Amino acid sequence: MSTSTAATTANSIKSESMPHAIPAARPPVSATLPGDLRRIVLTGFMGAGKTTVGRKLAAELGWDFLDLDTLIEQRTGMTVPQIFSEKGEAAFRQLESLSLAVALGRKSIVLALGGGTPELLTNRLLLEQTPRTLTVYLHAPLAVLTARCLNQPDAVVRPVLADSLEAERRFAQRLPHYRRLAGITVDTTMTNATETVALLQKQVSAPQ
Ligand code: S3P
Repeated sequence: MSTSTAATTANSIKSESMPHAIPAARPPVSATLPGDLRRIVLTGFMGAGKTTVGRKLAAELGWDFLDLDTLIEQRTGMTVPQIFSEKGEAAFRQLESLSLAVALGRKSIVLALGGGTPELLTNRLLLEQTPRTLTVYLHAPLAVLTARCLNQPDAVVRPVLADSLEAERRFAQRLPHYRRLAGITVDTTMTNATETVALLQKQVSAPQ
């Protein structure tokens, strides 16, 4: 077998055994999106990769990246764990809703929500009623998400992860909201951020 035949065979075996293999070269994301789209919102549980994927996507689009937790921290001058411990979760959720409304007032943005943002009906309505906005759910099983969070340097300061049974309860409660809000769901179980962006792009051009 010639070298080139061997390479072709190896490639076809690779793509058969990896049904979700993503070609290295792809058109710019901006060429794939509907022309009137103004916002992409990333939702999903902690560890889904909302921030990492969001940054990459925004950079590719030449849009601004906004992280809702960061916005809350900038507006209050407090960290998220500080707000949870000093003001309580209900106060955090109010601040989160206010920041969400402000963020959705902007155009040409990729916005990473907090894992709990879709819990509140107000937030779900805001997301559903903001025009020209695509919500993308980054999915992975809870075990995968937890493992990812534990490998992150800030794992210990995520208040909602402190109690594993509580995290399980929240995941189950939020899952239907994530799914219902989503125009697109991307399974991130086996993908890194670059592959997730590529999958997202593929699914935008062939919506579910
Ligand atoms: C939360 C998730 C966090 C942050 C806060 C509460 C949650 O955001 O908003 O700690 O309720 O799941 P990330 O999903 O970005 O970690």
